[in-house]
Amino acid sequence: MEGVIDAPMRARLTSIGGYSRCVTEFVRVTDVLLPERVFFRLCPELLGSGCTPAGTPVYVQLLGSDPKALAVNALRAVALGAHGIDLNFGCPAKTVNNSMGGSILLREPQTVAGIVQAVRDAVPAQVPVTAKIRLGYDDYNSLAEIVDGVHKAGATELAIHARTKFNGYKPPAYWDAVRPVMDDKRRTNTIINGEIWDVADSVAAMQRSTCSHVMLGRGALSAPDLAKRIHQNDETSAPMAWHLLVEEVRDQFICSDQNSERHIGNRTKQWLAYLKRNYPQAQSLFARIRTLHDAKGIEKAFDAHKREDLHELDEIKSDVTIH
Ligand SMILES: Cc1cc2nc3c(=O)[nH]c(=O)nc-3n(C[C@H](O)[C@H](O)[C@H](O)COP(=O)(O)O)c2cc1C
Repeated sequence: MEGVIDAPMRARLTSIGGYSRCVTEFVRVTDVLLPERVFFRLCPELLGSGCTPAGTPVYVQLLGSDPKALAVNALRAVALGAHGIDLNFGCPAKTVNNSMGGSILLREPQTVAGIVQAVRDAVPAQVPVTAKIRLGYDDYNSLAEIVDGVHKAGATELAIHARTKFNGYKPPAYWDAVRPVMDDKRRTNTIINGEIWDVADSVAAMQRSTCSHVMLGRGALSAPDLAKRIHQNDETSAPMAWHLLVEEVRDQFICSDQNSERHIGNRTKQWLAYLKRNYPQAQSLFARIRTLHDAKGIEKAFDAHKREDLHELDEIKSDVTIH
């Protein structure tokens, strides 16, 4: 996920477990072959095995609309060791759409198919080429045509975020809308995505779409062990304990790429904003660091939070003893 799931976060989430693969943030492709350093910056895993430290393959995500340029850049990513190429046709951002990237391409099903075909033809047959789409741009009248084109062009997998660009990120996700395009038995490699926040959602999304796999977006950030629990198929499981998770958050703050002083802590704040959904403690930690931009101050806030959290735990324990 652009701006939130960088290499350290991929390492963290995949070490918690349950992921078959993950994708990088965007490699933005215009009309040129990008220098190798761009691929290494966005996918530092390429400097090693191309996998996260937990051994999960990382696919390089390309964003653009020029089939030839996407093809040569895909080939470069593969030459550098990428385990797969993921093509983005889902991004709703104005700046991206204005330069003919992301979800705007869903208005032109043939262009989408042409891009998938160009990339498929460019990279060796054994390297997966995956695509990510939404149901459509304004509506889902062209969904069947888009899906058909992507599959015929030889995509290894297709992930469908079950909303249109017009729907943005507003709930609900329309899992049922995917079912009609799943009638064809060859489409077992279609993955459902959108509004999967817990194990029960993943079961419902698969049942209602008839897809047999799920892709997590924000759910992965709000419940970092969600993929693991989905994998275990345990609908009764609760998210991992906060006292374990807060150590991960602290470590993420220390490890995450802080490219300028002004941005220190931004990714951690963003992660806490997602964690608030499942953890009230994330809200109080967020409030402590919200206005801070210096590493020392933020570290101190983590210490204070830990003390407060332990104190609350003690109080709960003594309550339990009294009653
Ligand atoms: C901050 C943010 C960044 C995202 N970045 C990407 C991205 O780089 N590539 C992509 O295919 N989808 C991206 N998405 C979309 C998600 O992958 C996912 O399709 C969407 O959030 C719906 O799933 P969810 O309801 O489980 O979050 C992003 C979403 C958010 C909120």
